[in-house]
Amino acid sequence: MARILVTSALPYINGIKHLGNLAGSMLPADVWSRFKRAQGHDVLYICATDEHGTPAELAAAAAGQDVRTYCDEQHEIQKRAGEAFGLSYDWFGRSSNEPNRRLTQHFANVLEANGFIEERVDRMIYSVDDARFLPDRYVEGTCPHCGHVGARGDQCDNCGRLLDPTDLIEPYSAVSGSRNLEVRDTRHLYLLQTKLEGAIRDWIGSKSGWQTLAKSIALKHLDEGLIDRGITRDLKWGVPVVGADGGPRPGMEGKVFYVWFDAPIEYVGATEEWADATCGDWKSWWRLDEGADDVRYVQFMGKDNVAFHTVSFPATILGSGEPWKTVDQLKAFNWLNWYGGKFSTSQKRGVFMDQALELLPADYWRWHLTAYGPEHSDTAFTWEQFQGAVNKDLADVLGNFVNRIVKFTEAKFDGVVPDGGEPGPVEAQLDADLRATIAEATEQFEAMEFRKAAAAVRAAWVLGNEYLQVAAPWTALKTDRDLAAVGVRTGLNLVALFARLAAPILPFSAEKIAASVGATDLSWPAADEAWLDAIPAGRSVAHQGVLFAKIEDAQVAAWAERFGGAA
Ligand code: 2FM
Ligand code: ZN
Repeated sequence: MARILVTSALPYINGIKHLGNLAGSMLPADVWSRFKRAQGHDVLYICATDEHGTPAELAAAAAGQDVRTYCDEQHEIQKRAGEAFGLSYDWFGRSSNEPNRRLTQHFANVLEANGFIEERVDRMIYSVDDARFLPDRYVEGTCPHCGHVGARGDQCDNCGRLLDPTDLIEPYSAVSGSRNLEVRDTRHLYLLQTKLEGAIRDWIGSKSGWQTLAKSIALKHLDEGLIDRGITRDLKWGVPVVGADGGPRPGMEGKVFYVWFDAPIEYVGATEEWADATCGDWKSWWRLDEGADDVRYVQFMGKDNVAFHTVSFPATILGSGEPWKTVDQLKAFNWLNWYGGKFSTSQKRGVFMDQALELLPADYWRWHLTAYGPEHSDTAFTWEQFQGAVNKDLADVLGNFVNRIVKFTEAKFDGVVPDGGEPGPVEAQLDADLRATIAEATEQFEAMEFRKAAAAVRAAWVLGNEYLQVAAPWTALKTDRDLAAVGVRTGLNLVALFARLAAPILPFSAEKIAASVGATDLSWPAADEAWLDAIPAGRSVAHQGVLFAKIEDAQVAAWAERFGGAA
């Protein structure tokens, strides 16, 4: 049994997340955590809301609430949405909680003691009309790299480059729209990433388990040359900057740490929150000197987050000189697009997690977003493809198989697994084909190749349908009851097996499918198991109603109308 720490990028607190956020980090992290737990491993899946910085302040202002109240409410909303989607976090924390505050101040202090932080007076954008500095997303303008209009001061959504507010062409205030901006002096802490470049490069070189997309983004950032980054901001909401003694730091009163400095530290902070709530031991997951050396740490995120996780956060960790656990495998996702354009939280474009569940159960979405997600390239969400995935894979292939064999058992064998007969060459061939398919699914899940893993799981379901066509117990029953009994018994065992294969992606349906044959085992099938002997003769079975309802064309038309589609 291995100890596996899984984190997914922390969703910003600024409103419920859309399907793109779900598909690119939280959902695959959940599917993989479930897969690893189902193999019997000790998994700790940690997530949290990312509550600081300009996204939180701007969203709270737009909602007419103070930031604390806004964050309290939104955290609960996101927590409930995650539960409803079956996201099996061991802990869903908050970056505004005490452990993160303490850890963030601790990291800043040790980095400074090690010579990696210095105070600098820098020139920042000040809005005369708003009477305040405009850090990060408080200022918008045209991207100097790609010309995108409406780029934010911290990052361009179009080309993904990290920006400094002063880089923007024709900047304006995101608060008031004012262009009456000046550049003024203000004092900030800088993390001297230039001094850590060699250490970061060596560290990346030592990582063999990273996926290509992640490694290439990391190296691109290093090759472009690191710059020293301001890690404090003129904002009220955030982790306060303090001196080494914990008291106010002269000249830094009223300043807080930059959200991207404290957010990744919340991976550790949230683990401490989990430990406080469960009598767990967070240090055994994070400190190499306290038992974390045998932990395998896997991070999931969208591609825009990779630079922060492969360069900025490692700079914090490596610069501390302390024995912290660092990421072993990093799985990055591309964008899920909304038809030709982008999902957008600020512009409310696309389908959001709460809306999705008003339309259909979580498993329908989980399947589509995993089996056809934005894994190796940007991928457009369309209602038509979603309809195809649900109707063909879930309703026709899996749901139909389960209903057909269970209902036939109810109709012809009094709802009891029949005895009699012996498996023959058809069952032997099925067993061999399944072994190959399940080995493929296991290998692809292990490699975090989600599309390929889902395709292999689906291929197993297809084998079941093909077997029923050949074994045809409904025909056999007319002449040879024992032969029919073998077909039915095998089919019911397949139901139990398919539930186990479905469980990481379809946790709600897997329980129902297993229950239809009186099974509860949802562990991942091991290579040497006798899968087709798990459901004994004499056990009662009962179908559990429609597993997956087909999506009608009229529904697609109504949703396209409500949410906007191709137009
Ligand atoms: O891009 C985002 O949505 C960020 N909130 C991700 C933070 S990940 C971590 F480092 F906290
Ligand atoms: Zn750009």
